Amino acid sequence: LSVSHHNGIRVEWRNRESMSDEEFKECANLFSEHYGIWGMFSGQLAGKRIRLSAAELGRRLAPSGTSALLAYADRQLVGQAFSLQSIIPNQVRVTWVTQLVVHEDWRHRGIATRLLNSIWAFSNDFAWGLVTANPLTVRASEKTTRRRCTPKVIRKHLKALGRVCNDIEYVKGKELCVDEERSKVNTEFHIDHSPIEELKRQYPRKWRLGSLEEGEEWLAFTFGEQRQAAWSREDLESALQNSESILREAYQRMNLDACHGWAQHAPQEVEFVENVVALSMPATVVDFGCGHGRHVLEFAKRGCECHGVDFLRGAIEKARERLDTCSELAVTFSSGDCRSIDLGQQFDLGLCVYDVVGSYADDAENRKLLQNVAKHVREGGFLVLSVMNMELTAAIAKQAGDVYDNPHLLQELEPADIMQKTGNVFDPNHFLIDSESDIVYRKEQFSEDGLPSSELIVRDRRYRREDVLKMCAEIGFEPILCRYVQAGRWEKELHATDVKAKEILFIGRKTS
Ligand SMILES: C[S@@+](CC[C@H](N)C(=O)[O-])C[C@H]1O[C@@H](n2cnc3c(N)ncnc32)[C@H](O)[C@@H]1O
Repeated sequence: LSVSHHNGIRVEWRNRESMSDEEFKECANLFSEHYGIWGMFSGQLAGKRIRLSAAELGRRLAPSGTSALLAYADRQLVGQAFSLQSIIPNQVRVTWVTQLVVHEDWRHRGIATRLLNSIWAFSNDFAWGLVTANPLTVRASEKTTRRRCTPKVIRKHLKALGRVCNDIEYVKGKELCVDEERSKVNTEFHIDHSPIEELKRQYPRKWRLGSLEEGEEWLAFTFGEQRQAAWSREDLESALQNSESILREAYQRMNLDACHGWAQHAPQEVEFVENVVALSMPATVVDFGCGHGRHVLEFAKRGCECHGVDFLRGAIEKARERLDTCSELAVTFSSGDCRSIDLGQQFDLGLCVYDVVGSYADDAENRKLLQNVAKHVREGGFLVLSVMNMELTAAIAKQAGDVYDNPHLLQELEPADIMQKTGNVFDPNHFLIDSESDIVYRKEQFSEDGLPSSELIVRDRRYRREDVLKMCAEIGFEPILCRYVQAGRWEKELHATDVKAKEILFIGRKTS
């Protein structure tokens, strides 16, 4: 479903319904070989490995609606986590990790933490947790949520947790035993408890969940109402480290066609460009970061030969589908990285619009992308560039500060589902400007789009008019116009801080 690579470990999401029998078997094997040993009250099984068949694993640990997160080293399955996200009455979300196991040879390499961090969905979710007899798993889940499992708080929300229990076989109908000093449930899962005391000693703080009797496991949950431990600078950096894969995933989840107002005006925009640059037909056009190809298709309808490039395979597939419905047009699409792709050809007009430049927090990457666009435009040819307006952003901002010196600013930023729903990334309640770097941060929540729910930190770089003029001069373009504009109304120059002026449009001619 979706994949990420890190330190040689590949992590893939599956939803339960799409998992093959073979994959269930593989998961059952990993569980059976590496989960744990039956305890002394398990009769004949005592001392033997706890084994599950593929069918039992499916039934007991993967109820309908579960997502599985599988960690591979090369082709070997080395870790797995199953989780169920349930919406309970009043529309609150509970995430329950129904199973977590890491291959013994691959422990202490951060795989469990990575799996839990990937399952971590929304910072304002109602409840997040699991049932386990392993103190280190409790600790890992507290690290993920940055909140402590506290019996008093768990007790307050027992009714809500009880609702989710009904969907999970190993806790269904079981009494949740929670008071001021304990939080546990008798799952009748007689795993060997002998390593527990030693593991509890490794726990950094006072153990709060009580001790376990035979057959019991801890009910370890944290809640959105609990304050999170403050991010350190390292926490901030690690949250941002995956910026590029985050960026791709964020784009993948953008719902361009359906409801993003800014993406509905390609015909008017292309007509405006044609009026300004008066292309002589048949002209050639290239679009870097073409998305679903809306601008190239419009240029092609006017007789141009066009090429669109985007690094999202999903976007290119959509663009090709659109092309299928008007196959007489001269358009080709390539999937590739606009910072480095070489199309082996120069075009009459290069297009790079709607915040392709500005995608990167590291401005050197934005420049690399722009330089590559310039390389693909012939001398005397044209560039059409649009980027997000920093003047307006700064004028309406409610939150600003040095994020690296004050990581809590970002931690406390209110999340939103703007990219999935409206695309209005100028809502001042939901962005934060880093005053040191002119980078804008948002916390974007994605759900119900076929991928697992997740909250991503999305950063972008916005510009002022003088930045754009300078950047374009550096790559050899002389301006024909450079103005603050509204989507679809490029003919009208707006004031820099007009609330409609979300973009800066540059049209220029290549002189060198
Ligand atoms: C906001 S969308 C705009 C899409 C399109 N230009 C439009 O106006 O509909 C930005 C696009 O840039 C693409 N993009 C960003 N960085 C890229 C890169 N380095 N290589 C290829 N595509 C990139 C994204 O995948 C996304 O489709």
